[in-house]
Order: sequence, then C-alpha cells, then structure tokens
Amino acid sequence: MASPPKYATLSTDQTQLILYIQFGAQPHIVYWGPALTNSTPEEIALLSERQWAFGGPNLDIQPSLSNEIATGLSGPPGIILDRDGLDWDALFTVEKVSQQNDHELKIQCRDTQAKISICYEISLCPEIDVFTVSTSLTNETEMPLRIDWCTALCLPLEQHFDHMRSFKGKWAYEFQHEDISTFRGSFVRENKSGRTGHDTFPALLAFNNTTNETNGLAAGFHLGWSGNSRLRVDHQADGRAFLQMGELFFPGEMVLAKGETYRTPPLYGAQSKNGFNSVSQKFHDHLNHKIMDGRILNRPRKVHYNTWEAVYFDHSEEKLIVLAEKAAEIGAERFVLDDGWFGGRRNDSKGLGDWWVSKDVYPNGLHRLASRVRDLNMEFGIWVEPEMVNPDSDLFREHPDWILEIKGTPQIPSRNQFVLDLTRQDVTEYLYEKICTIIKTYDVTYLKWDMNRDIHHPGSQGRAVTSAQTRAVYQLMRRMRDTFPRLEIESCSSGGARADYGVLQYTDRIWTSDSNDALDRQNIQRGASYFLPLNVMGAHVGPEKCHITGRRLSMALRAATAFFGHMGMELNLLEERQEDLAILKKSIALHKQHRNLLHTGQFFRQDGPESHNIIGVVSRDKTEAIYSCTKLTHHSTTLPGLCKFTGLNSDQRYRIKIIWPLSEISPTAPSILESAKLLDSGSVFSGEALMRHGIQLPLMMPESNLIYYLEAIKND
Ligand code: DGJ
Repeated sequence: MASPPKYATLSTDQTQLILYIQFGAQPHIVYWGPALTNSTPEEIALLSERQWAFGGPNLDIQPSLSNEIATGLSGPPGIILDRDGLDWDALFTVEKVSQQNDHELKIQCRDTQAKISICYEISLCPEIDVFTVSTSLTNETEMPLRIDWCTALCLPLEQHFDHMRSFKGKWAYEFQHEDISTFRGSFVRENKSGRTGHDTFPALLAFNNTTNETNGLAAGFHLGWSGNSRLRVDHQADGRAFLQMGELFFPGEMVLAKGETYRTPPLYGAQSKNGFNSVSQKFHDHLNHKIMDGRILNRPRKVHYNTWEAVYFDHSEEKLIVLAEKAAEIGAERFVLDDGWFGGRRNDSKGLGDWWVSKDVYPNGLHRLASRVRDLNMEFGIWVEPEMVNPDSDLFREHPDWILEIKGTPQIPSRNQFVLDLTRQDVTEYLYEKICTIIKTYDVTYLKWDMNRDIHHPGSQGRAVTSAQTRAVYQLMRRMRDTFPRLEIESCSSGGARADYGVLQYTDRIWTSDSNDALDRQNIQRGASYFLPLNVMGAHVGPEKCHITGRRLSMALRAATAFFGHMGMELNLLEERQEDLAILKKSIALHKQHRNLLHTGQFFRQDGPESHNIIGVVSRDKTEAIYSCTKLTHHSTTLPGLCKFTGLNSDQRYRIKIIWPLSEISPTAPSILESAKLLDSGSVFSGEALMRHGIQLPLMMPESNLIYYLEAIKND
C-alpha cells in the first residue's frame, strides 16, 4: 500500500499553498506565495531547512498550524485551552487528510491523550485566489474544555513583508489606516466592543517598502466576524513571523461540553505581486461571489432616499409623503423610513424595543405612506435596531430581565439604551415575530438593521456571551432572510461599526459611516475600499452644511462622492436650493447610467498626489472605465501632476471625456480641458498612453471633483 503523502498543495494560477501533513506529526505551512510551476514540495521543504543555534535547543523547533504551547516555539501560541488546569499542553498530530481537488483541504488532527481533536478546513478559491481557513476544536471527554484563544491559523509571514497597514478610526471617521514597519515583538489589535468596531476593522495588509497601489508585493487578511476579535503579528526572536486572527474571548466564555465543537470565524487571505489594488480586487470578488448570498448580485442597486438627516425623530405622514414625492422626482428608487416610526420613539431616550407602529404619529399605521411610496415606483424600507432596548419602553417595563448585564454592576447606558440578551430564545422569538409582522403588513423589502452601542457588559446568567450573542444576531438575520427571500438588509452600526465579511453573509449593504461630509467620505470610502467593494458601500448625499462636521460643500462634490458607492440621498429636499436639486437629479441619472460599471467592474485606487483622491472602475472586458478625481486640498506645486488610468487595455484606444461636473472646472484657461476637448467630444488616446503616461490634471479648486469616462473605440 502506498504511504500517505507528506505534503498537500493548494494552487491557483497565481498562488500556491504547500502544507506538511505527515501522519502522526504536527502539520505546518511550508510555503504560501506566488505559484511555483517547476518545483516540488519536497525541494521547497528542503530549501526551508533551518539549523539549531548556540544558546538554544539542540534542534530547530518546527511551527504547526496552531503553534500550540507544547510545540515549544518561543512566540505566542495560537491555541490556549485547558481542563481545569490540565490538558493545557495539548499537541495535535495529523490523523486524517481529505483532499478531493487542488483547492480544498481538510486536515484532521488529534491529541490522543487529551482527547481533543482539531480540524483545519482550508480552501483556496481557484478563480478568485483568496484562501479561507476555519478551524474547529472538539472536546471528546466528560470534562469541560475551556478555550481562551483559538486563531483560525498561525500563518507564517515571509520576511519580505516588512511593513503592515492596519485600520483605525472612530465614529463618523471609520476605515482610516496606519502604516508601520515591522519590529521585533508583537503587534496586537484587540476589539472588545461586541461589534466589529469603529476603530478596529479586523483586517491587515502586509507589504514591503516598494509596494504601492499598482506594484509590488502585498498581502491582505480579514477575519469574517462581527464580535470581539484579536489580530496579532509576532516577529519572533528566532527570525520567524506569524499572523493570528480570531475571536477574543472573555474568561470562561467558550467552554465545550463532551462532543461539542467550537469553530473559528473564517480568516480570509490573498496576496499579489501587483500591489494593493490587486489584493482588494480579489477580496471584492470573493465577497461578491463566494460570501454574500447572491440575492442582488445581478440586480441594480437601487438609489435610496433615507429619512434620517431630513427629519430625525420629527415624523409626520404628510411631511414624509411630500419628501417621498420629491425624492422620487429626483430619482430615488427606494424610500427608507429611518428611526422614529415606532412605539414612543419621539427621541432617542424612548421606545426602542417596542416594534409596533406609533399610534401618536401614524394613527392609521404606515399604510398610506407605504402605498404612496410604491405608487411613486419606489420600494419601501424601514429602520430597526433589534438588539437594543430603551429602559423607557414597554418592552423593558415588561421584561427588565431580558438584557445583557453583569450582575451587581450598574449598567453603562450608551445612547440611552441597553443591550437585549439574544442568547435567550424568548428574546429572539419576540424580535422575529414583531419585525416579521411589520415586514408582512407593509410589504417591506429592505431593513436597515442598526446597532448603536458597544456592549460593555456582555453577561448572561453570569457568563460572558459576546460570541453567542454575535452568532444569535447572525441566526436572526438568516431566519428573516429565509422567511422573506426578497428581503435585503443593510448592516449599520452608528455608521460603519458592523462592517465585515461575517455580517455580509446575511446582509447586502454596509452603512459606511454616519458622516455624510463628502470630504471626509472621500477618505472613509477609500479606506473601506481595501476590503469592501463599491456595490456594498452605502454612500449618501447629505445636506449642504454637514450635520456632523459643520462643513459646507458644493452639491457637485457631495453628489460625485456618493456616486462612487451604493448611492443615496439623506437630506431635507425641501430645504435645498433649486439649482442644487437640479444638480442632484442629474448626478442620480448619471449614476444609474453607469452603475453597472461601478458595481461590477474592477476597482482601482491611484497613488498620489496627496492633494487628490483618484479612484476608478474598469469594466471586466476593459471596454469602458470611469475615474473620479477629487481635489481634497491645496497642492504645494503650482499645478498638479498627471492622473494615470490603471487597468485599461494598452492595445486599445479610448475616447476620454469629463462627464462631471457639468459646469466650469478650471479657474484658468486654456488648459488640458480645451486642448483635449475633455468637456466636449473628448479625445482618443491609446490605453497605453493613458495608463503609463497619464493625463495632465487641470487646475481645480480644492474641494472639487471631476469624473472621467473612457470608452474603447473600435480599432481601425
Ligand atoms: C445611527 C445610524 O448610523 C444613522 O444612520 C441612523 O439610522 C441613526 N442611528 C438612527 O437612530
């Protein structure tokens, strides 16, 4: 009988992952990098041989997929578990490997003494080139097994990844990033907010000092999880570096009884020789084609009208109908009735949890509003915040015990609300029943599902339950979607605090940020684009004077910024100037004309100049492209530099034009606008010239924007 293979390989055209899977030994990663077409796993393993060094053990210690404590490796373990102080030293060796093809692998390992098994499920998507790893631990004995940490994988990072980009931010300024060069020791980001968090988007990019958006080595990692998380990269004294990502548990939070299994959230990873754009494109495709459930993949993303910044809690049927009429006239296709329609919710201190239509404000229910919305050819959507309750609500008065709490410790109210305990079935039944009734009664096809606070006291029956709560939220979303197969859900959490590939399995759109300030949004959306594609990125045109920053920005810039996302409006249309409404209407018509390209093409960010934010989308067949160039601030040179149009076909010729804004752009003339007839019929250039050389940018005012449209012309 042939001896079982020592190595397993997962490959795509671009990438290869080689694992050592010898039966009875600890599995480990031998290689993760560009596809090797002419080498064997054996030779790569041999080329990786290390030696012992003076002052240390007499042999070089091998890592494993979880770097258990018992491997003896110096860095932090990928698994921390015990049974009342015993079995902390579990060490897993391969018992069974299943591989049906070259993109899916299952490695089952076990510690036969401790009677704990672990199963690594690793796949490398053949068309998209993103790997997914999820790891499951099973307790096989009567004694409870406590898990304090279980990363999906300890992924070795090669030494050329000597820089890291991680994400930070705050409410209304999410998805900012920070670059650092690697250093000896541990880089750790922990999130214990009970949601993905405004400041801890669970992702990392690894790169080197020559990498930019279009060139150089880059790798991206993301944990598909909306609860507490930990991300760490450890550069060890032995010269090796490992990345770990997983759920962050509070003490005693994850305890397995006999036969129970814990499965980590999925860790996604991809790398490329072609810079950050290429990594983002792989992640975008993976999200759209492998993670989201596809219910709207081939349907146009409807333009929204959201009522929040228009009326806040000041609802009236008459006013909302007038706004709906105006919104439809301007081009909205979906009307989303935000917070304030239910119970006693006349401000943010009351009514949360009372999911029935407010009798004071809507004595006859929402029938008139919803049917007027539909008569206007819009869909009717509604806001909910299922996981929360105001102490001043009928729900809380009736069920004060339905909340998460740390017994004996006063609640920390946040936005005047407490968190419901979704690990209780009676709570989820209540929410399911009440919200489904609203959906059915008013034929709601869209839910904006909000979550407006961190969870400071995630206790239920004395135990920590953030993990169980997160899974219960997913389960409730899944159940509602199963009940209503047309239902779309937007994941909102005071803006972008629940934005990740975990929640996107059950939702269709992310509310990227509460800030509708177009200038801030340029940064926020650019940051989000590392992992989130434009089709899920909710982007609204807000009022002239931003309610959050107080900044006044032109309608042309506000519209152009929302144009590069899933576009919507969120402003009081009765208060804006007529000329601005005319601009808004034109921008929406233009967005509809180009949204298929925006939402299905390949996305690119351009490097510099720092004064500008240049992003674009090129269709898959490279026959058209749309690029946005926003001048954020002054540049230090008299004139700005060139704008390059990455992603075109160099053998193709393109007609290039400026399609936005519609009025004068450059404060001085003549300029490239006239010489290349950019505001007129446009000019034709080779894709090569537009990509490699680029076009001179015209002089623009700060806080203004241009949109270029490029269309391939038939080659003669
Ligand atoms: C926070 C959200 O991010 C806003 O868009 C809005 O829905 C409010 N909550 C409503 O309370």
